Formats: sequence, C-alpha cells, structure tokens
Amino acid sequence: MTMLTQTPYKVRFEKHLQAIQTFLEEILVVQEPEPLWQAMRHGVLNGGKRIRPVLLTETCLANGGTFENALGTAGALELIHCYSLIHDDLPCMDNDDLRRGQPTVHKAFSEDLAVLAGDALVGMAFGLIVDKTHGVPDKTLLRVISELSLAASVRGLVNGQVDDTLSAQAQPSEALLYRIHKGKTAALFRFSTWAGGMLAGQSQEVVDLLGQYGEHLGIAFQIVDDLLDVESSSETLGKTPGKDAAQGKITFPAVYGIEGSRKVLKEYIVQLNGILDRLAPHMETQNLRYLVQFVEERKS
Ligand code: FPP
Ligand code: MG
Repeated sequence: MTMLTQTPYKVRFEKHLQAIQTFLEEILVVQEPEPLWQAMRHGVLNGGKRIRPVLLTETCLANGGTFENALGTAGALELIHCYSLIHDDLPCMDNDDLRRGQPTVHKAFSEDLAVLAGDALVGMAFGLIVDKTHGVPDKTLLRVISELSLAASVRGLVNGQVDDTLSAQAQPSEALLYRIHKGKTAALFRFSTWAGGMLAGQSQEVVDLLGQYGEHLGIAFQIVDDLLDVESSSETLGKTPGKDAAQGKITFPAVYGIEGSRKVLKEYIVQLNGILDRLAPHMETQNLRYLVQFVEERKS
C-alpha cells in the first residue's frame, strides 16, 4: 500500500515532534498569573498534529540545517497557530466548544482569558525567534521575523480570517475562495517551508521554491479540511463538523462540490510533486513527498 501506512507520521517525525513538544513545554512553564499560563498551556499543549513546525524543522534539516537552527522559529510558529485557533473558537468568531477533542479555551477557562492567552502567545512568539535560535546569522533572523509578522497579520492569517468572516453567506466564487484560504491557511504553511530553507542558509531560488511548495500544501490541506468538515464525525475530527455549511462559509465543497473538490485536490498533488521534482537536485525531498501524502490522506 502507501508509504503512509508503512511509516506513520508520528513514527517518521518522532524526533521532530519530541523536540517541538519539549520546546513548547519549556517555554510554557507556569508563572504568575497562573490562570493566564494555564489557559495558554491548554491552548497549546492539548494535542495538535504540529504540522507547521514539523514542516519547518524537516525543511531545515533536509537542506542541511539543524534542530538548533529551526526550533525557535518552529515553536514561534506553533504559538501563532494556536493563538489563531483560540481566537477563532471564540463566541464572536466561530463559537466552538470543541477543539482537539477537548473543550475550547474559553469553555475551559473564560472568554477574557481566551482572548488574553491568545494575545500573550502571539506577543511571545517573535521574541522566541531571537532568544531561542542558535547558529543562524542575525540578518537571516531579521528576514524570518519580518516574513512571519506579515504571514501572521495583514498578508495571511488576519486578512484571511476577515475575508472568511465577511464572506459568510456571500455568493461563493473561486476568487474569494482562494483569497480566504491563501490567507488563513496557506500563508503559515508557506512560511513554514520558506523559513526552513532560510534558516538552513539555502539559496534564494530554492527558498522561493520551498515557499511555493508550502503554499500549495496549505491549499491542499484546506481542501481536505473542508471535505472532512462535510464528511467526518466530531470523534474523529476533535472539533465540531458541519459548521462551514451551517455558517454559510465559502469552502471548496461550496464552490466545486465534493467530487469537484477531490479533483482540485488531485491537481494540487500533481503540482506539488512537480515542485518537488524541481527541488530534488538541491535537497533531500523524501520526507516532503511523504508530507504531501499525509496531508492528502489525513482523517483529522
Ligand atoms: C486547523 O489546523 C486550522 C486551519 C486549517 C486553519 C484555520 C485558520 C484559522 C482558524 C484562522 C484564524 C485566524 C485568526 C486571526 C483568529 P490543524 O489541523 O493543523 O490543527 P491542529 O494544530 O489541531 O492539528
Ligand atoms: Mg473559522
């Protein structure tokens, strides 16, 4: 059968996952005020696939870099992703009770602590890149910080979320669909692989191709996310399914239908393999190929 069933994600990336988990545990040791830190810990240490930091770390390693080069930025990226989930789940946004199979932060704590825990995580993230990266020139780190600040705000997460919010009940269109998802999902995926290459000291040409791989992978990931929202259960998913349609969201199934979305997904997989063929002379691509398959076949 597939590579995926032969070597599951958690086994293949055991070292990456362990290093990321240890890093996150270390930076989230409880301090005062305790409720803030407990809420931050709940939002970050409650499971999650860690696909963005795995992508960043793997891309760095596959281009000749080290864990020490990658971990500060990988950890920062996961904090930003987790903050965005905490805020996305709030009653004023998607109003969700369940995330990663557990109560959302505002349900387990309170709405104000959920807002503030998210604020603290995003604020902390940038300093971690400075304080916890080893062996990378300062000039490179400045570019990484600048790129993440945009991907986490007005050229990524926040503009995508605003488009997503404003377009609920709007007429579905391809242009709007891609605008939303390039922002709210693909920007952080693009950053993951772009930064992995940067931190490893790769050439600009390869770093740009890595960014393209990440962006395409992000869109593929979102197509699967949308399909799972239609077809899966809350037990498998760890969050409430069926919410996109209920909220009139612009999703891949809303624009292309279910079979149409699967077809678009296949097209993305072909393009991803093309990008990897172009990357192959410059780096070890085996694990990035595997991650394409993982994204395509994931169930949660
Ligand atoms: C699931 O990630 C999340 C996404 C597919 C992205 C959703 C985007 C937002 C919620 C944007 C929110 C933005 C703001 C500004 C509030 P995952 O499957 O990797 O989750 P995991 O970490 O639980 O595995
Ligand atoms: Mg949402």
